[in-house]
Amino acid sequence: MSSAALPPFDFSPAKAAYTEKPHPGWVLGQRTESTPDGKEWVEGEKEGWKVIDTSKEDPMKLYALMISGIIPRPIAFVSSVSEAGVENLAPFSWFNMVTHYPPVLSISIAHVAGKLKDTPTNIKATKNFVVNIISEPFVEQANITSIDCPPEINEWDLSGLTKVPSDIVKAPRVKESAFSMECELFQSIDIVHPDTGAATTTLILGLVKCIHVRNDVLNERGVVDVAKFKAVGRLGDISYSTTGTPFRVAREQWKIDGEKISEFLKGLQNSGLGTESSPKERL
Ligand SMILES: Cc1cc2nc3c(=O)[nH]c(=O)nc-3n(C[C@H](O)[C@H](O)[C@H](O)COP(=O)(O)O)c2cc1C
Repeated sequence: MSSAALPPFDFSPAKAAYTEKPHPGWVLGQRTESTPDGKEWVEGEKEGWKVIDTSKEDPMKLYALMISGIIPRPIAFVSSVSEAGVENLAPFSWFNMVTHYPPVLSISIAHVAGKLKDTPTNIKATKNFVVNIISEPFVEQANITSIDCPPEINEWDLSGLTKVPSDIVKAPRVKESAFSMECELFQSIDIVHPDTGAATTTLILGLVKCIHVRNDVLNERGVVDVAKFKAVGRLGDISYSTTGTPFRVAREQWKIDGEKISEFLKGLQNSGLGTESSPKERL
């Protein structure tokens, strides 16, 4: 779709307010098809299924399908520096938090024509980098840095973004980002194709040494306010997503809700609809 055919970006602050969960009246064991939207969803199955054998699929088709189905993905906007001191900036959405203790994140970077991209080359050489989170107001500046330019070109210059020296690592952070993490290389793992034995991708694990978070995006509990942060995510093809309207869903706890849940499962067993396993195993 050409951008000329698209309506303008929606800047409205609708997502500032939390909403209820989609089905506030949901009770234990209630079937998906029992709500109007659930019924419509389940009926979609009438179209049948397509099952893809990944060992037979064209890799580029697999790429397109996987990045469209594994959504939304957070985006690591990575600042790194080469051994020779050339700065680099690029976005990567095969990115996530691994654990908070120790604070570790992961970024996965595909090789191009058997060669590492500049970001993993720099990280492996200098052992440090900064992950910045992208917000709506500078998404175009971040996007331009994904250009496949030669390593001597500094993407910072193309972006119009502002460099700030980091406190601990050599790579600078992006001043416009409201949430940046200074990282040390924790581990670098080659992803080797089991059929060909060739490394196709580098998985970088980063130890987060320091977090910079802008005060104006924090709420009264000291954590990031989703509406103020305006973080963007990645969807399929070249699509981005906004964070959307948040809704709250309480998490049941066995300590509090276990009795009620056991009663429900006992009822299921008695009616012959339950599975063989004990209630606790099943959950
Ligand atoms: C939003 C976005 C997300 C991306 N995610 C990834 C990714 O997860 N892995 C990857 O290998 N390339 C990804 N790319 C492509 C890289 O950004 C691109 O190859 C870039 O040129 C790499 O820069 P470098 O060679 O300076 O490291 C993404 C591009 C965009 C625009």
